Amino acid sequence: STVTIPPPACMLRPLEAPLRYLFGPGPSNVPPRILAAGAKPIIGHMHSEMFEVMDDIKEGIRYAFQTQNNMTISMSGSGHAAMECAVFNTVEPGESVLVAINGIWGERVAEIAERSGAKVHRLVKAPGGYFSNKEIEQAMQKHKPVLFFLTHGESSAGLCHLVDGIGDICRKHNCLFLVDTVASLGAAPIFMDKQNIDILYTGSQKALNAPPGTAPISFNDRAWYHHKMFNRKTKPLSYLFDMTYLSNYWGCDGKPARIYHHTGPVSGFFALRESLAILAEKGLEESWRKHKEIAAYLYKGLEDMGLKLFIPDRDLRLPSVTTIAIPDGYDWREMLAYIMKHHQMEMTGGLGPSVGMVMRVGLMGYNCEKFNADKALHALQDALKNCKKSKA
Ligand code: GLV
Repeated sequence: STVTIPPPACMLRPLEAPLRYLFGPGPSNVPPRILAAGAKPIIGHMHSEMFEVMDDIKEGIRYAFQTQNNMTISMSGSGHAAMECAVFNTVEPGESVLVAINGIWGERVAEIAERSGAKVHRLVKAPGGYFSNKEIEQAMQKHKPVLFFLTHGESSAGLCHLVDGIGDICRKHNCLFLVDTVASLGAAPIFMDKQNIDILYTGSQKALNAPPGTAPISFNDRAWYHHKMFNRKTKPLSYLFDMTYLSNYWGCDGKPARIYHHTGPVSGFFALRESLAILAEKGLEESWRKHKEIAAYLYKGLEDMGLKLFIPDRDLRLPSVTTIAIPDGYDWREMLAYIMKHHQMEMTGGLGPSVGMVMRVGLMGYNCEKFNADKALHALQDALKNCKKSKA
C-alpha cells in the first residue's frame, strides 16, 4: 500500500499565470472587480443565496439579450456548451437543420447537429461572406428545416451579420431561429424579442469580461412550447445539457422546488453575475457606442500604417474583433509570435476556414479603450518593422 508514483515535480512548483494583454478574440482581460467576485468564499450550489445569485444572473442575461424569456439560464461550460444545448434540445434524429456557414461557428454547429442525427444542410460562403434574406428563405423552402442557425458575431472572419427580418422568415416556414452572439454580445446591438430570435446564446469571456466557463442562453416560448422541446419523442443526447432539468435548476419551470441536477461552477457564476452587473451599470447603448468608437479608431490606425481590413464594408465589421488581411511579405505566425514575445500581447491568426487569411485584434469590454488600441497599433507597427521577409 505504498505509492509507486511520486508527486510530480511540476506540482511542487508554484502556479504561473503571466499578466498579458489579451487583445485577441478572447478570452479578454478580466477586470479586478470581476476577479474579486470570483474569489469570494464558495457557497453550496443549492443554498438559497446561490439561487438568488442565479436569479440575478437570469435578470442580467435578459437585459443583455433584450428579452423577457422565462427560459433564460447560464450553462456550466463555455460557449460550446450553449451551442450544444441549443441543438440537443431542439433537434431530434432525422430532422432537417439548416446552417449558415461563413466562418468556423457554422461549421461547428453543423457537426454538432450531425452528431445528434439531424439531416444537415449547409449554406456555405467564404469566411466573412454575407447571406441575403432571400437566399436564406430559398434554402428554407427547399430543405424545410426545424432549426436555422446564423452567427451574429463571426469572430473567425470579423463579420457582424445583420439578423433583421430573418426571424420572420423562420416563423413563416415553421422553423426556429438560433443565433450565436458569443463574440458580439455587449459590443453590437442585438434584440432577441424584437428580432424574433427563438434561441440566443453567448459566452462569458469576450465583451462580458468574465473568466471562460459560463455561457448564457435563452429560449423563447415558441421554442419551448410550440416546437416540442417540452414534448419530444426522444430525450436530448446529453443529460447535463437537458433543458427540462436545467430549467428546474435555474427556477424557470414554475415548480416549487429546485432539484439537484449538477454542481454549477459557483465561482464562475459569481464572476458572471458581476460582469452582467457592470454591463447593466454602463448600459447596453453605451457599451455598443464605445465598441464602435474604439473599433473606428483602430481601423484608422491600421489603415494609416498600410494594413488592409479583411471585411471591406465597415458597417458589417464586428466591433469587438477586427480582422486584418495578412500583409504581403510577412509570415503571420512570425508577426504574432514577435508581438507576444516583445509586447506580452496576444493577437491571433484566423480560425478554421480563415486560417492563413487574417490576423485578429479584439478589444472587448474592459479592454475596449483608446489607450489599448494605441498599444495594439504600436505592437503591430513594431512587428511590421521587424518581421519583414527579405526578398531572397
Ligand atoms: C474564439 O472564440 C475565437 O474566435 O478565436
